[in-house]
Amino acid sequence: MDSIYILGIESSCDDTSAAVIKDGILLSNVTASQAVHEAYGGVVPELASRAHQLNIVPVVDQALKKAGVEREQLSAIAFTRGPGLMGSLHVGVSFAKGMAASLGIPMVDVNHLHGHVLAHFVKESEDDNDKPEFPFLCLLVSGGNSQIVLVHSYKDMEVIGQTIDDAAGECIDKCSKVMGMGYPGGPIIDRLARQGNPEAYTFSRPNIKGYDYSFSGLKTSFLYSLRDWLKEDPDFIEHHKEDLAASLEHTVVDILMKKLRLAARDLKIKQVAVAGGVSANTGLRNAFHDYANRYGWKVFIPKFSFTTDNAAMIAITGYYKFLEKDFCPMELPAYSRVTV
Ligand code: KG4
Repeated sequence: MDSIYILGIESSCDDTSAAVIKDGILLSNVTASQAVHEAYGGVVPELASRAHQLNIVPVVDQALKKAGVEREQLSAIAFTRGPGLMGSLHVGVSFAKGMAASLGIPMVDVNHLHGHVLAHFVKESEDDNDKPEFPFLCLLVSGGNSQIVLVHSYKDMEVIGQTIDDAAGECIDKCSKVMGMGYPGGPIIDRLARQGNPEAYTFSRPNIKGYDYSFSGLKTSFLYSLRDWLKEDPDFIEHHKEDLAASLEHTVVDILMKKLRLAARDLKIKQVAVAGGVSANTGLRNAFHDYANRYGWKVFIPKFSFTTDNAAMIAITGYYKFLEKDFCPMELPAYSRVTV
């Protein structure tokens, strides 16, 4: 049987990424990040789409070159259809359409969130076989989402819990901004937290039914506490930034893990994965190992390169859809909002 080559394209937010997968094994994964947003303390959609326009051709070229694959060898092009920023998505979607049409090959549309979950199935070599077994639970935590997903199969995913307001990453980023730290706040809080006391301060925790999350109350509690402490000591942040970061991280991780544990217990599932940008967090990774020991979970934590947005996860999701001949028509539009 001929080999299957999938080119994956990701452009949903501020990373332009392309990856090539051959028969389910990753050959290349090239990402151009956009430093232009740092000065604004957040992603500026208009600037993001312009940067995608500049990056998309060289990134795809590099991914093919690194993989040692000619474009004529490609079996299909998988692309992120949504959710994400419309102007950013349009660049990847239009590029995928143009390239697929010129090569006369099928296109496969990929839900970005499915991609994050299936990042666990990216194989970097033939013997890289440590993958979750269906059904498993996946905690999907990023700048825009905080969800508990019950993964029945490659295509069948059920959101059993999600945030009713802010996402976990958004909460960390906003608290970091309030402290006058850089953007994005997640990695900065992570670094500071390693030197701080997680029990130094307590912030309010949500009391929400079921498996849903809420992070806006924590954000407000952090803001108000900080405001009071700054009245007493104008240099409070400088003096206590490590403890503030550690206590914030500890609270977020605890909220995330307690609901996940509830779902795992109720559904009697022991295979538990984490995905999305916040899964790079050291405290969250440690908590996963801790819960694995305490509750007999088998846990799946992605490599750092597969935590934030990347095209390898889009290509592998596209590969499984390709095997089922689940192609999409040329006129398919991007979409900005949807859950898994
Ligand atoms: O999945 P992702 O790359 O992008 C989208 O949300 O689209 O996630 C980005 C989020 C940001 O909120 C960022 O601050 C957070 O992931 N993040 C982290 C860490 N690295 C990235 N949060 C906590 N600790 C980290 N080490």
